[in-house]
Amino acid sequence: MSEIKKIKEEYLLKLNKDLDQNKLNEIKTELFGKNGVVSTKFKQLGSIAENKRKELASELNYLKNELEELILKKNENIQNKEINKKLENEKIDITLPGRTYFAGKIHPVSQVIDEVTSIFSEIGFSVEEGPDVENEYYNFSALNTPENHPARDMHDTFYLDNSKDLLLRTHTSPVQIRTMLKSKPPFKIIVPGRTYRHDSDQTHSPMFHQLEGLHIDKNVNMGHLKGCLYYFVKKFFEVEKVRIRFRPSHFPFTEPSAEVDIGYKIQDGKIKIGEGDKWLEILGCGMVHPNVLKNAKVNPKQYQGYAFGVGIDRLAMLKYGINDLRAFFESDIRWLEFYGFDPLDVPTNYRGLSR
Ligand code: PHE
Repeated sequence: MSEIKKIKEEYLLKLNKDLDQNKLNEIKTELFGKNGVVSTKFKQLGSIAENKRKELASELNYLKNELEELILKKNENIQNKEINKKLENEKIDITLPGRTYFAGKIHPVSQVIDEVTSIFSEIGFSVEEGPDVENEYYNFSALNTPENHPARDMHDTFYLDNSKDLLLRTHTSPVQIRTMLKSKPPFKIIVPGRTYRHDSDQTHSPMFHQLEGLHIDKNVNMGHLKGCLYYFVKKFFEVEKVRIRFRPSHFPFTEPSAEVDIGYKIQDGKIKIGEGDKWLEILGCGMVHPNVLKNAKVNPKQYQGYAFGVGIDRLAMLKYGINDLRAFFESDIRWLEFYGFDPLDVPTNYRGLSR
């Protein structure tokens, strides 16, 4: 048997065994490495008699191609086997139920603040904030509320540390003054925030939320106030038509002043806004009193406008059918689970809060 045939047989045998990648690489080097069996044969060609050289060279080439092809195939086999093994080991059982996701809920008050803010920002209002702890000047005096006004009574207002000056703001109106003092007119702002009054029953909580609105410019009148409130009520309650009633009222910081009622009826035990002949008070408003503008360094001969104050918690109760205000602030997770809102990106395997 020729030497080449011997090599061929020897290596066919070796290559047909069950090999791993390392073993295969070893064989490859044995054959084609620098001093490999086949490489050495090629080197020896030069010293062979010319008449035999051609034949031997072609035999050698043939062997080389055959073995190389076999190694390539073998390589592919080993790699496929490895991939299959991996797939087998890393298999995911998609029939297993997903893990329960504990997602929080958005409190109705936060939800309503978000809704109201986006409604007013569509018509050019920007958001301002002010401190919960106020002094008498911003909460009352600058708002044209005289010393002897009943709102200043200890029964309504929480004063701090028997201070005659520091208090928890009783409304968001002091932010009107703060905003006007820190820049120049025109002003078109809303102010959502916490407010405090000495009061507690089904519809009153000592801490509650208000939304203040203020629009001051050169030609702002009561028609604008009306238009703005119609727009707001329709957008917020998502109704086409709405009945609104302006009732003359009194606030020290507006003149004239009005309280606003919206029409509603009860249908199937649920409240329907915009229909029916019942009236529900939702906010206080009016044209900002010239004294307030003066206190805020705005010239009332040049500028005027309207202000309003809405109870945010009350809006939430009306829109989402919640009937006890106090439950808003009791931090009962079962209540929140029921009345709260899902955050926008709830994962698909969300199954609620389970206990
Ligand atoms: N601050 C008033 C209140 O708390 C509401 C209000 C705001 C009225 C602005 C008129 C103008 O009752």
